[in-house]
Amino acid sequence: MTERVFDELLTWVTGVDDTPSDLAKHAGLNAFLVANGVKVPDSSAPARAIVLGGAKAGIEQSVLQDVGFANGEIVCIDRVPPLASEFLGSNSLVWLDGLFPDTVDEDRVPSADVLVCLAASRFFPDAFDTYRRLVRHLRPGSLVVIDFLHQPVIRQAALAALRDWVFVEWGRDRDLAMASLRDLSRLSVSVGNGLVGSVVDLESSAPALGLHPGSYSSQRVLYEVFFPFWFKSGATEDDALRQMVWQLLYRSMNGTEERVRAFADSCDMEVVGVLALTPDTNVLVGRTAR
Ligand SMILES: C[S@@+](CC[C@H](N)C(=O)[O-])C[C@H]1O[C@@H](n2cnc3c(N)ncnc32)[C@H](O)[C@@H]1O
Repeated sequence: MTERVFDELLTWVTGVDDTPSDLAKHAGLNAFLVANGVKVPDSSAPARAIVLGGAKAGIEQSVLQDVGFANGEIVCIDRVPPLASEFLGSNSLVWLDGLFPDTVDEDRVPSADVLVCLAASRFFPDAFDTYRRLVRHLRPGSLVVIDFLHQPVIRQAALAALRDWVFVEWGRDRDLAMASLRDLSRLSVSVGNGLVGSVVDLESSAPALGLHPGSYSSQRVLYEVFFPFWFKSGATEDDALRQMVWQLLYRSMNGTEERVRAFADSCDMEVVGVLALTPDTNVLVGRTAR
């Protein structure tokens, strides 16, 4: 049942969420790639890039541009049809419709020179396992730009508890489950509005809990450390609902820098860098062994 509910919720949220790729959030990645002169491998043959979970493709396209990917083929694996046409430039696009590796078999994935996956790995059952399967399709010296989410332990536990509850309720009665989620979203907006201007000074350092010394917005600490009460001034309850449902689909949440480096090592990858893009997102930029 879990897989079915996951699938239904993912269908629902991808159907109602037309938020564009968060390009501003990824500006640090673009700057990192340019500053380090990261480029696609030289090859006489036309290059191929695999973009996993890249239906909206804005970020992925900007990364491919940064690394000089041109006149090649982009293979987008996602159950959502890619919106890439306006970003394609000189590249062609192939869409593998489905979820990897659940409904897109590994033998349908062609060999490639670049792998890009951003803002999607949190929804894989195990990001490390999924990436490992894809890295096997890369040619020697291929470029890898993939991200990993990691969450403080309390938030991981809260998300897991909430997800388990929603999955059971959704399996019983979708309308009631959605009504409860709408209530939580209303609560989230109300709490956010109530905390506008409230600041907290944290003195202790407890990285596993997501606590670091400094002065923070109280709502930010609540959201990033404890509970998925997303808030943005002026956002609607529907926006909050969508954000909450996306987070209930989180499955892979333990991509600390240490684990990411160990993963790269175990795949025999040369690490160009592990970029802490945000407090909860590490991006691995690497190359497969030559
Ligand atoms: C939050 S969206 C991010 C899209 C895009 N990368 C961006 O940053 O705008 C996550 C995407 O991952 C896709 N996705 C989730 N699990 C997937 C899987 N196992 N295989 C392929 N795509 C997946 C979803 O369908 C969705 O389009």
